[in-house]
Amino acid sequence: MTASTSDIKQAVGVLRAGGLVALPTETVYGLGANAEDPAAVARIFQVKGRPSTHPLIVHIGHADLLDDWVEDVPAAARLLAEHLWPGPLTLVLRRGRRVPLEATGGLDTVAVRVPDHPVALALLAAFGGGVTAPSANRFGSVSPTTTDHVRAELGGAVDFVLEGGPCAVGVESTIVDVTGDTPSILRPGGVTREELEAVVGCPLEVPSSSRVRVPGQHPSHYAPRARVVLVEPDKVVAEAELAQELGHRVGVFLPASFADDVTKVHAVVPLPRSPVDYARGLYGFLRELDERGCDLIFASLPVEEGLGLAIANRLRRAAGPRPTV
Ligand code: TXA
Ligand code: MG
Repeated sequence: MTASTSDIKQAVGVLRAGGLVALPTETVYGLGANAEDPAAVARIFQVKGRPSTHPLIVHIGHADLLDDWVEDVPAAARLLAEHLWPGPLTLVLRRGRRVPLEATGGLDTVAVRVPDHPVALALLAAFGGGVTAPSANRFGSVSPTTTDHVRAELGGAVDFVLEGGPCAVGVESTIVDVTGDTPSILRPGGVTREELEAVVGCPLEVPSSSRVRVPGQHPSHYAPRARVVLVEPDKVVAEAELAQELGHRVGVFLPASFADDVTKVHAVVPLPRSPVDYARGLYGFLRELDERGCDLIFASLPVEEGLGLAIANRLRRAAGPRPTV
C-alpha cells in the first residue's frame, strides 16, 4: 500500500497550512514541514522534543533546484549531487536566504538532500518548495522505518501520515560537509564512503565514531529503551547468557548461522548476512527487542566498510551513555 494522488494533495494542503506531514524516504520516515515557514519548523522541534539549536535537513525535489536554497556550490558538491541524487546523501553547504535560521539552528550552513522515494518526490513536486524533515521519532530514540513505527512514536502529533511501505535503505543519509576545501563525512549513512570516493576521486575523512562532530548528535542516539552493550564477536553468547542468568531479560544480535544454538537468553535476532539487509532491518530489530521486553541487548560491531560503517556508527550511538533524567 502506498500513498495515492489524493493523499499527496492532502499532504500538500497540510504543508501549506503550516502543518506537519510524516513522509517516507528511502532511508527512514521524516517529520516534514514547509522549510520556509518558521512557525511550522518550530513545531517539528516541539513534537520531537528536540533542542531548537539542532539543524534540520531541507529536502528538495531535484538537484537542479539546489541553487535556490544554498550559495557558493563548489565543484565537488555538484559532482556528488549529479551522481548520487536522488539518494541517501545530504550535502552541507552555505545557507541561501530562502532558508530561515529556525531550520538550521542558527547556522550559516544548511543540509540539503533529494530523497529517492517516489512518494517523497511526488510530494516535493506537488508542493514546489522545500520540506525540512528530521527523522520522525522522539529525540534520541530509534528512527522509524515504517508508518507503524511513526504512529507508535508520534501518534496524533502529526497532521498527516503518507504511506510509502518499509524504507529500503533503513539507516539515515550520509552527511557530507562540502563547505571546506575537501569534502568530509560528518555522519556515515546510506551512501558508502567508497561510493563517495569514487565520485570525488580522492580519499574522504571519516569521523571517529566516538567523537561528536555534527551538532545535534549526542552520545546516546538511535537508542532503544533496552540498554545496548557492545562486545567482541566471540564473547557475545557467553556474556549474554551470563547476564540472563543474573536476572536480566537479554536480547542478542547474532549471525543467523549461530542464532539457533543460543537458547538461554530471552530473545535472539538472527542477523542477515548481507549488509544491505542488515541496515534495512537494524532499527526494526532494536524495536522488536524492546517490544519483547528485553532490558539488555548484546551485539558486536560489523566490519567498518561499506554499509558496515553506518551500522557500526548507529550501534555505537545506541550503546552510548544515556542522559540522566
Ligand atoms: O536520512 C536522513 O537524513 C533522514 C531523512 C528523513 O531524510 N533525516 C535525518 O534527519 O536523519 P535528522 O534531523 O534526524 O538528522 C539530521 C542531521 C543532524 O545530525 C544534524 O545535526 C545534521 O543533520 N545537520 C543538519 N544541518 C546541518 C548543518 N548545517 N551542519 C552540520 N550538520 C547538520
Ligand atoms: Mg534522527
